[in-house]
Amino acid sequence: MLVDSYGRTVDYLRVSVTERCNFRCQYCMPEKPFSWVPKENLLGFEELFEFIKVSIDEGVTKIRITGGEPLLREDLDRFVKMIHDYKNDVDLAMTTNAYLLKGAAQKLYDAGLRRINVSIDSLIPDVAEKIAKKDVLRHVLAGIEEALRVGFRVKVNMVPMKGMNENEVLDVLEFCKERKMTVRFIEYMENVHAEVDIKGMQSAELLEIIGSRYRYNDEGFDGHSPSHYYKLEDGYEFGIIEPHKDDFCAKCNRIRLTAEGTLIPCLYFDEAMSIRDAIRRGDIKEAALVLKEVIRTKPEKNRWSDPDGELSKRAFYETGG
Ligand code: 5AD
Ligand code: SF4
Repeated sequence: MLVDSYGRTVDYLRVSVTERCNFRCQYCMPEKPFSWVPKENLLGFEELFEFIKVSIDEGVTKIRITGGEPLLREDLDRFVKMIHDYKNDVDLAMTTNAYLLKGAAQKLYDAGLRRINVSIDSLIPDVAEKIAKKDVLRHVLAGIEEALRVGFRVKVNMVPMKGMNENEVLDVLEFCKERKMTVRFIEYMENVHAEVDIKGMQSAELLEIIGSRYRYNDEGFDGHSPSHYYKLEDGYEFGIIEPHKDDFCAKCNRIRLTAEGTLIPCLYFDEAMSIRDAIRRGDIKEAALVLKEVIRTKPEKNRWSDPDGELSKRAFYETGG
């Protein structure tokens, strides 16, 4: 079992298979970065898998494949199958922008994946284009439809922003409700890579909007999920992810691995350690030691709760959100 210095058990690993993305979401990667990680520094699926085995053996039970956009990496289903075949009860899911999902969904399902998280920030083509800086909505919706047809459980993320998509909170909620997909509204997390003029929305404002149409019950938190859940009278549940709340990090159970083998203990901070050389040398013991050291140094909490705090320099496209 992996336990950090604050007594939190870490059993959840998010693996970013690429920092590249085919979108330029305003809150994440509005401009193409000055340079991408050089190809030779990227870990191959076999190398990433070597580390995943180490972390599963040390106590990780939950794995998320993320990016950038993970479907930009060829043969991702092969990677899914490697993990699934190693331990088929590992809780495995993927976060994707769904642009390429239509062509990939069946193969991923056949490889053993059952859960997918996608983003819908707007259901209006022009607004979706403004947010992702690309005409994406048609492809995204086709990808989601195919994932549902194939049999995936789909969760939807929306980042509500003032003056942008704030008037679509109810529309996205209803779109998801009709399709039995859980929607989670994510408070915008300020960071230096994002467009400067974004104004996020906090949970109280979102609940006010939702409360104007629905009565809901506060269901609290479900295990270690960062999402605060609410239930409508008809039983539909939606979530709000509230990183600006002071106690958000108290039950954090996760660490992140980037495509170049950097192990990151917290989404907010720059601190990290690399497992790349150890994995490339086949030194599994050293990789396990780095894993334990990263968990030992996991910070107590982020600084999004501090309104005067510095902007986070961590790039979401590197860590996979
Ligand atoms: N703030 C909040 N959510 C973000 N995401 C990416 N960047 C940010 C940010 N700055 C979320 C997106 C996407 C997921 C991968 O991460 O909603 O669904
Ligand atoms: Fe790409 Fe996701 Fe970042 Fe958007 S939020 S730019 S889809 S990695």
